Formats: sequence, structure tokens, C-alpha cells
Amino acid sequence: MAEDLTRATGTKEEQYQALLPQVKALIDYESDFVANMANLAAALKEQFDFFWVGFYLVKDEQLVLGPFQGPVACTRIAHNRGVCGTAWAQAKTIVVPDVEAFPGHIACSSLSRSEIVLPIMHDDNCVGVLDVDSAELNSFDAVDAKYLQEMVQILTAASII
Ligand code: SME
Repeated sequence: MAEDLTRATGTKEEQYQALLPQVKALIDYESDFVANMANLAAALKEQFDFFWVGFYLVKDEQLVLGPFQGPVACTRIAHNRGVCGTAWAQAKTIVVPDVEAFPGHIACSSLSRSEIVLPIMHDDNCVGVLDVDSAELNSFDAVDAKYLQEMVQILTAASII
């Protein structure tokens, strides 16, 4: 495939709809998990210019920083700590409209204002999370949750984990 992304315009949903088949094309024929996480992070950053988008992976009972796009970030997050550790512990997507209102939020950057974290499920286990941060309040909702979930499913279906 051509490693070029066509940036879409329109509503957030239209942008996700345009990005989805491109993400599928990028990932579907590659089985390497790291390569696929790296390209998914890059595709999301390129389309939406999120402040930070990346992965944390479960290793030795912690979340450890994986491929990402954006400023340098915390490398390790404990189980049930912060938004990422909570999404891991609960194996649930968490939308945070205002990070200051989330008890225990871990501020890797003081510029991050809202956040969405999705668990990455494999064989009924949470093996990591996808974390997307915005520099604005209230950036994420059910539309982001739906399409990011689809992208995580494409990732886990194609990759050897
Ligand atoms: N805010 C996250 C930490 C990761 S950074 O945002 C990249 C949290 O509370 O878990």
C-alpha cells in the first residue's frame, strides 16, 4: 500500500469514517504489533492533530509506555492509577471531559485538558490501553469511543500479540 494518508475534512464522524478504511489498509496486512500501534498512533495524530496519542502495554503488572505521537510521557503507570490504570483495571473505555475533575489523573503534561482511554483486549485479557489526550476540554464523546474501539479491534485482529 502507499504509506500516505489522505486527510479528511468534515464532522468528526466523517473524519473517522474516512480514516477507518485507511487504518484498515495500513494494518490489515501487517502482523507486527509494535509496527501497527506505531502506524495507528501516527494516523490518528495526522488526521486529528491530537495533543498526544499512544499506547501503554501491560508488562510485569504495570503499564509501560509503547508507541506514541506527541510530547514525551510518563513511562510506567500502576494498576488502577490514573485514567490509563483505571481503564486497564476495569477493562472499560473511560472518557474524561476535564482531567482536573478525574481523581488521580496522572498529568504527564500540564497542557492536557481532556482524555479518552480504551482497553486493548486480547483473549479476554486487557493487554494495554490506547490513550488519546487533547489540549482542550470536552474533546471526546461516544463518537470517539465508537471509532477508536473499531480501530483497536482492527489492531488486535491483525497483530500477533
Ligand atoms: N493521563 C494519563 C497518563 C498518560 S498521559 O496522559 C500520556 C493517566 O491519567 O493515566
